[in-house]
Amino acid sequence: MDQWDSGFFPPDREPDRQYYFINKLMQRNAAFEENNKRRSRFFIQTFGCQMNERDSEKMAGVLIKSGYEGCESEEEADVILYNTCTVRDNADQRVFGRLGVLKGLKEKKPELLICLSGCMMQESSVIEKIKKSYPFVDLIFGTHNIYKLAELLYERLESGSRIIDIWEKEKEIVEELPAKRKYPFKSGVNIMFGCNNFCSYCIVPYVRGRERSREPKDIIKEIEALVSDGVKEVMLLGQNVNSYGTGLTDKVTFPELLRETEKIEGLQRIRFMSSHPKDLSDELIEVMASSEKICSHLHLALQSGSSRVLRDMNRHYTKEDYLLIVKKLRERIPDIAITTDIIVGFPTETAEDVEDTVSVIKEAGFDGAFTFIYSKRTGTPAAAMDQKMSEEEIHKCFDRVLKTVQETAKKRISLLVGRTMPVLIESVNEKDPSMLTGRIPQNTVVHLKGDSSLIGEIVNVRLDRAEGFYYIGTRVN
Ligand code: SAM
Ligand code: SF4
Ligand code: F3S
Repeated sequence: MDQWDSGFFPPDREPDRQYYFINKLMQRNAAFEENNKRRSRFFIQTFGCQMNERDSEKMAGVLIKSGYEGCESEEEADVILYNTCTVRDNADQRVFGRLGVLKGLKEKKPELLICLSGCMMQESSVIEKIKKSYPFVDLIFGTHNIYKLAELLYERLESGSRIIDIWEKEKEIVEELPAKRKYPFKSGVNIMFGCNNFCSYCIVPYVRGRERSREPKDIIKEIEALVSDGVKEVMLLGQNVNSYGTGLTDKVTFPELLRETEKIEGLQRIRFMSSHPKDLSDELIEVMASSEKICSHLHLALQSGSSRVLRDMNRHYTKEDYLLIVKKLRERIPDIAITTDIIVGFPTETAEDVEDTVSVIKEAGFDGAFTFIYSKRTGTPAAAMDQKMSEEEIHKCFDRVLKTVQETAKKRISLLVGRTMPVLIESVNEKDPSMLTGRIPQNTVVHLKGDSSLIGEIVNVRLDRAEGFYYIGTRVN
């Protein structure tokens, strides 16, 4: 008998409590398999950022441990889980659109379980809309209780009625639950949760709660386990990794955590995101410059090149501060790739401010950027500000920003042509199966001839030419 099945009542302590419910689900799923001559199947669709990707891997881990098996489409699934994002309105609309399709599936297969989790579920207006317009949804939970998936699913199955469990506030960090990685050779690792920065346009602090750092020993232990399971590259995840350690009893800074991570034998590459410019220290630049394992890539969100707009955005740095960081980075790490996020159309932004952004893009020379049109998020301070530019002006400015980023990226990417670089091979090329796709430390994609046996290996590749935002290369030994 399993240690978690030894009592009639679930334990209070986590993660023991969840293992108790995993066990209960296993028993149900064994009976399902006996009756249906197949395993019960789940399908997870993830929306949003790496945080959500990692949360989905954790939920997949719990489902697999509970006796479910993954499948590739909603049509084959017995349990469908959408892990949602609400950073911009179009993220919400995509989920509502797909829920409309699920209605038909549920009518054909009433025993199908439809579950929703993640950031969008932390908004009361969304919950009201789902209750009213999508009553066929079986289970709804938020960002703070994803670790309770086994318990919530079991409760839903036993009670037969819909469960909505949203916590307004974060509670403890629960360690030691399983995860099923998308890639055997690389993994995201949460080093912190939540955000305290309250950039005036952003909903994330409201839906992810206050910043909490994991204990360094738990992080290191997780990475060691990942490495012994075949992981070569980790991506340390947080909304602002540069403020890692605040609030821990034994204070540890992010550069110190990186130094400890570097010592892990067998680990070959370290990446991290996101970095907030206001907290980026010289010590971090030094650790990156002297490291053998930290990749020469920094994603450093600019958001705007206008110091006035940055102030309205509550970002706590100026255009000059940002450019100084870029200068220091390029001096200490000449090959570094710097990528960024830019928002166009923030309420107080004018076409003149966008010119400032364009000049910062040129001066910083970004290797790439995610550019977004501002999306109003109810409840954030920016939602109450009057919009200065018309939709038409915003779209014009957006195109101008995009074009400038494309120009700098093209220039930067061409600089490494002819060089031989280590490439972590990630997959067979989707369009041409005789080609492989991988990434150099700078994070730029490389396509090269080769067979699938190289997936997960780091090989030396000569970068023959740059095409758009990727390289075509040849393996060299
Ligand atoms: N914490 C990260 C940072 O500060 O670098 C960013 C995380 S956020 C999930 C990713 C990006 O979404 C932000 O950098 C910002 O550019 C964009 N974003 C956030 N709120 C937005 C909004 N209301 N409208 C448009 N883009 C937004
Ligand atoms: Fe949003 Fe700012 Fe926090 Fe990033 S740092 S998640 S942009 S509030
Ligand atoms: Fe990420 Fe979207 Fe939530 S970007 S933190 S999944 S709102």
